[in-house]
Amino acid sequence: MTAEVIYGNVLAEKLRIDMKDEVILLREQGIQPKLTVVLIGDDPASKSYVKGKQKASEFVGVESDLIELPENTTEKTLLDLIDQLNADQTIHGILVQLPLPDQIREQLVIEAISPEKDVDGFHPINIGRMLTGKDTFLPCTPFGIITMLKSKNIEMSGKNAVVIGRSNIVGKPVGQLLLNENATVTYCHSRTKNMDQFIKEADIVIVAVGIAHFLRAEAVKPGAVVIDVGINRLEDGSLTGDVDFENVKEKASFITPVPKGVGPMTITMLLHNTIKSAKKIYHV
Ligand code: GUN
Repeated sequence: MTAEVIYGNVLAEKLRIDMKDEVILLREQGIQPKLTVVLIGDDPASKSYVKGKQKASEFVGVESDLIELPENTTEKTLLDLIDQLNADQTIHGILVQLPLPDQIREQLVIEAISPEKDVDGFHPINIGRMLTGKDTFLPCTPFGIITMLKSKNIEMSGKNAVVIGRSNIVGKPVGQLLLNENATVTYCHSRTKNMDQFIKEADIVIVAVGIAHFLRAEAVKPGAVVIDVGINRLEDGSLTGDVDFENVKEKASFITPVPKGVGPMTITMLLHNTIKSAKKIYHV
């Protein structure tokens, strides 16, 4: 079997065109959705993500402000800035790019952002709402993954889903969203013993470990759906995911590529959340 490749970039573009139309209608009602991104330091990967966010915002018509602060910014400076952004009625979404420098406690920053403007879906209140299946801002990468699965009418209910990786940004929340879709979810991680025994039973495998070619074809159940969240830079400068794509493709039913897979969907869901926030503030 050769898998169908799910191109996130194609779905992302389709969704962004629809969002663009939605923003035109909002603007006609005097609503200009606005996202403020805070970037601290000079990490090249973070800069590149932020650039992608700016470009996509522009296309959709979401106003996007970038506040760049130096690597040695203090926690207090950042928390004071967040207070200001929380109070600014023209801003609907606040995103502080992670990771943060060591002198700033990430969890304090996440909890300082108003849950109403937390378009990343990282605030404990929003995580709790997700957990209980309430309407909220869903974390962008997990939300993008579920949207990709739904776009191909891939059944999740009653399926065995294995999530490899347990980060707060991807692994934990994507497992929760799969559970909300009635999948039977198993989390595997660096301490899991004999991981292959879980993977071989999985109808859906989500890989978010940050290790190139981590998932091998031999481990995968024939016909499984494989979602690759990894972005790894190889020595020759090229990007590759966490899945041995060429070989796994021959065994899976659906597979996502890297690049052009999950990445473009993450940014699209961020814009979705920002527009949702703007609509909520104005009770549209
Ligand atoms: N760094 C890597 N991914 C993300 C994300 O989704 N949101 C934020 N704020 N930082 C990130």
